[in-house]
Amino acid sequence: MSSSPAELHYNGQVYPLPLLVGTENEPAVDISKLRDDTGLVTLDIGYKNTGATKSAITFIDGDAGILSYRGYPIEQLAANSSFMEVSYLLLYGELPTMSQLETFNHSITHRTLVHENIKKFLDAYPASTHPMGVLMSTIASLSSFYPNSLIANRPMADMDRTYHRLIAKMATIAAWTYKKSLGHPYMYPNNKLDYVSNFLQMMFGHRTEDYIADPVVVDALNKLLILHADHEQNCSASTVRMVGSSHANIYAAVAAGVGALWGPLHGGANQAVIEMLEQIRADGGQVSKFVAKAKDKNDPFRLMGFGHRVYKNFDPRARIIKEACDQVLNKLGVNDPVLDIAKQLETTALQDDYFIERKLYPNVDFYSGIIYRAIGIPTDMFTVMFALGRLPGWIAQWKEMRELNEPIGRPRQVYVGHPRRDYLPITKR
Ligand code: CMC
Repeated sequence: MSSSPAELHYNGQVYPLPLLVGTENEPAVDISKLRDDTGLVTLDIGYKNTGATKSAITFIDGDAGILSYRGYPIEQLAANSSFMEVSYLLLYGELPTMSQLETFNHSITHRTLVHENIKKFLDAYPASTHPMGVLMSTIASLSSFYPNSLIANRPMADMDRTYHRLIAKMATIAAWTYKKSLGHPYMYPNNKLDYVSNFLQMMFGHRTEDYIADPVVVDALNKLLILHADHEQNCSASTVRMVGSSHANIYAAVAAGVGALWGPLHGGANQAVIEMLEQIRADGGQVSKFVAKAKDKNDPFRLMGFGHRVYKNFDPRARIIKEACDQVLNKLGVNDPVLDIAKQLETTALQDDYFIERKLYPNVDFYSGIIYRAIGIPTDMFTVMFALGRLPGWIAQWKEMRELNEPIGRPRQVYVGHPRRDYLPITKR
């Protein structure tokens, strides 16, 4: 921490504010003692400019469109690594050696089975249920099968098995929520397959015949999962850290993260994008009409998949996904009319002053749904795919928070309710 050039002038006094500077030269003012010194709280609704932690996992420069995990640029990871390699990197801070990756893969592969009773829970949901609700409750219920996870002060060194278990079982649970929606028998994991191929066989395989995943699909899915794997202190990661900060078990924290991700302003946007593109198509494909609706402040319609709290130039994930989208559709020979609508919408919005002035660009969710569709994933499973990708990030965030022994998360408020008043008996009101 450097000596401070920042100070607060308040009530005729000067209060120095300690400064700290992150690895990538991001300066921050430490206000943690502000209340003790001055009686002031800070107000920042939606935490638009509040650092909740010092983290060494993911770096984003929203103006420059930079995203890196543990220092490695997302473009390099998406082009060269696998989802398992990136998961290891997020959890342990370094890229694995060959033998570390083998051990990690083995540990995850051999934990993909879920307790048979989980099938009974799944069976009880109505077929029309949204898979995010099923995923959320099933992840939370894993805590009942692993009572050790409830020990609040369990040594962190004992947690590896739990992290691996979560990553392993999430794929099985996610695929089974889909099988459940179809009324098809669940497919058991196959230990001979890599993580992504195994997930695909549990989603699309049938007991009556062998299923071999198309390498183009495996590659595309690996890329998508990598691009979603972490995104620093977003709504769901902050939720995971917040829930974990009370020393609640990691299953409860991750289940809460799934809940936060579900909303259409966060991960749920990928489902909302396809629904919007379909709506535009059904309406005759008039893109400009919907751009006008998005600009109209009296109309609640927003361009889903556009805009981002942090990226104000471009979302590097969207660039990679747009390119991958073209490649995957070409390789699979899929001609999806909503891709043309998406491209027209992007071009029209990017030339429009409303979007230029507000720095609104396509985000990660804008093109991802088109790839999911091309590989056969149904629309209401899109956010589940996001959750599957984001899981190693959530675990890494939970792990970092607990290893740093961070205090319980507990924001302040500015109370604007009724001033003190006395209780009146019901007969006198
Ligand atoms: N369509 C039309 N106008 C928009 C949009 C949009 N998609 N996004 C923001 N705006 C406008 C907004 O109305 C506001 O205008 P004004 O200044 O005139 O009031 C201005 O742009 C700033 O928007 P904001 O809502 O204050 O910005 P935010 O940082 O609070 O919200 C956001 C960020 C992502 C929630 C928002 O851009 C949005 O709702 N986008 C659509 C949903 C979406 O695609 N979400 C996925 C985000 S990326 C995946 C993830 O990491 O979760």
